[in-house]
Amino acid sequence: MKRREFLVAGAGCACLLFSKTGFAETAATGPIVIGDLKSFAKEGLDSQFLKKGFFLVRGKDRLYALSAFCTHRTDAQLKGQTGAEKIICPRHNAQFALDGTPQKGPPKRNLDRFAITVDAKGQVTVDTSKKIEAGKTDEAPAFVKIG
Ligand code: FES
Repeated sequence: MKRREFLVAGAGCACLLFSKTGFAETAATGPIVIGDLKSFAKEGLDSQFLKKGFFLVRGKDRLYALSAFCTHRTDAQLKGQTGAEKIICPRHNAQFALDGTPQKGPPKRNLDRFAITVDAKGQVTVDTSKKIEAGKTDEAPAFVKIG
């Protein structure tokens, strides 16, 4: 098999693997309008956007979006039911706090945060193509202010 044929065959296998695992369907990238800010009134973890690749977390005065992929092996999808106090990585039983900090297990780095904004009509958008740099989680667009 020539090098070019090998690369084409490899790409085909990778596409098949992603579609078999559902990874391709669960890793949306780009801006996603998620709804009216008022509809996210309950504090804590909200997992309704897990298939789009992120958790929503509402604190006392802010709303932010955390990546649903582990920072130990970035292809590992995290778990956490709405209202849960921890986010779990089932691959190596790691735990993350709702601010994204690793609490248990091999991950050393916080979960990524995605840019989140609210427009003049109150519609919230999460942009999964824009990660917030470490150390900038206390400034826009790392969160949307509530109240
Ligand atoms: S892949 Fe998540 S803890 Fe190892």
